[in-house]
Amino acid sequence: MLTIASQKSVRSLGSYLAECGYTADRLIEELGIHETLSADLQNLEPLLEKTSGRSALHLLARLFFAGWPANAADCTRILDPDALSAALACGLVRQSGSDVEPCALLVPFKEMAVACDGITLYRGPDIVMGPSSSTRKMLYCAVPGTGEATLDLCTGTGVLALNAAPRSSHVVGTDVNPRALQFARFNAALNGLDNVEFLCGSAFEPVEGCTFSRIIANPPFFLAPVRTFTFSDSPMALDGFVRKLALDAPSLLAENAFFQMACEWVQFEGEPWEQRLQSWTKDSGCDVLVLRGWQRNAIDYTEKTTNEAKGVDPSCAKGQFASRLQWLRNAKVESVLGGILTMRKRCGTNWFAILEASEAKESTGSAIRQKFDSLTVLASHSEQDLLNARFRFAAGAELIERAVLGEKGWEVTNSVVNESALKDEVRLDSVVFRFMTLLDGQRSTREIAGSVAKDLAISNEEAQTRCLQLVRRMLQGSFIQPVPDQVANGR
Ligand SMILES: C[S@@+](CC[C@H](N)C(=O)[O-])C[C@H]1O[C@@H](n2cnc3c(N)ncnc32)[C@H](O)[C@@H]1O
Repeated sequence: MLTIASQKSVRSLGSYLAECGYTADRLIEELGIHETLSADLQNLEPLLEKTSGRSALHLLARLFFAGWPANAADCTRILDPDALSAALACGLVRQSGSDVEPCALLVPFKEMAVACDGITLYRGPDIVMGPSSSTRKMLYCAVPGTGEATLDLCTGTGVLALNAAPRSSHVVGTDVNPRALQFARFNAALNGLDNVEFLCGSAFEPVEGCTFSRIIANPPFFLAPVRTFTFSDSPMALDGFVRKLALDAPSLLAENAFFQMACEWVQFEGEPWEQRLQSWTKDSGCDVLVLRGWQRNAIDYTEKTTNEAKGVDPSCAKGQFASRLQWLRNAKVESVLGGILTMRKRCGTNWFAILEASEAKESTGSAIRQKFDSLTVLASHSEQDLLNARFRFAAGAELIERAVLGEKGWEVTNSVVNESALKDEVRLDSVVFRFMTLLDGQRSTREIAGSVAKDLAISNEEAQTRCLQLVRRMLQGSFIQPVPDQVANGR
């Protein structure tokens, strides 16, 4: 296993990797490699060919990306001697005859290098895998903002904790797997982050009684009858583990703090899945947004999870398809859904919302934040508050007037669009379209309703009802946001 013989030498090794251009972009651009070695070695030959050059980057990629031995004499001649001895001292590589053999991978991820097990280097239920698609999704969905104390539950290699470190005063990463924590501590040293600590234990056990300004979790959520791998398979029946995390997290959240979790959950035969998540969160004291990513029937889900297990260890998952499927059927699971659950602790009347979002982008976190803000205005403002408030367009929202030449000549359609990562669009008739242009933050809804009443020759009361309906719909789609009260803010 990896050891930190000296923080300084591990940190220097990290700097050396960066100097050599050991980043995901450079590995793709210069060497044409983007996938580590597969368990069945299908891509071994191309990986060896592409890492056969005589540069430091080629050698580092062969050792730590392909996870394949390199000639010791080449390593001594081409690599920085201090970096090579640091790698030997911490157990990242070992000398074996005329070769230097890797003992772990270094996966470039964002600006970091992340040490983890390679599937051809280590076999065991406690294997520690590198960043996955759900790791990336969690990063994309992270609500922006700085925090005092961040908790990264089920930290694995520590990758999410390390990413959160620059925006937190302190980060705690927890994991039940001691091997994972060794990787995580090593990765903190490798990437020069010293405001992160890692604690061993299940779920929230290591941090009982603590409060955090942010909690993130990419837990083991695969539904499986037998737990083959600690990193992927739920330690409780069906979706019991993510349910437990959703139930327990609020008691560790400070007011206005966010909990975000990648998860999978079941839909039982004849039951709407929404009710299930609502029941987990209804007494949480939190506003809740579910980003629903996908839904698969039991057969497709079983195929996916069996293949993923085979991808880690082909022998483990042999013949598992039938037993996994039968287990889901016995439990009356019709389908399984996956997505991101975001909860924000807030005193007051809480809301629960669901959005479809098949793919997360880098800006999804900002869009989630926008959604929380607008739905909270909707839930916490009375009719009078909404009439007195002044609204303006939110970032990413636009009014669009489109003319299309159809059979009856030019047909004009109007809409309001929010082009953020959680895209939304509402068609508007020409009168409403005109009203929307008045939402420029200068006048209150009540004042605008006054103009609308005159314009359409309708009563003030009717104009206000219509304006309020529209303001509510616009808040729902995060098209508008209230302008802060300048008097209250002393401006
Ligand atoms: C899917 S991996 C996520 C790793 C990392 N956070 C990431 O995003 O790449 C899930 C992690 O949860 C850990 N884990 C499994 N059961 C746990 C439990 N009961 N309590 C805490 N962590 C657990 C595993 O050891 C593994 O490191």
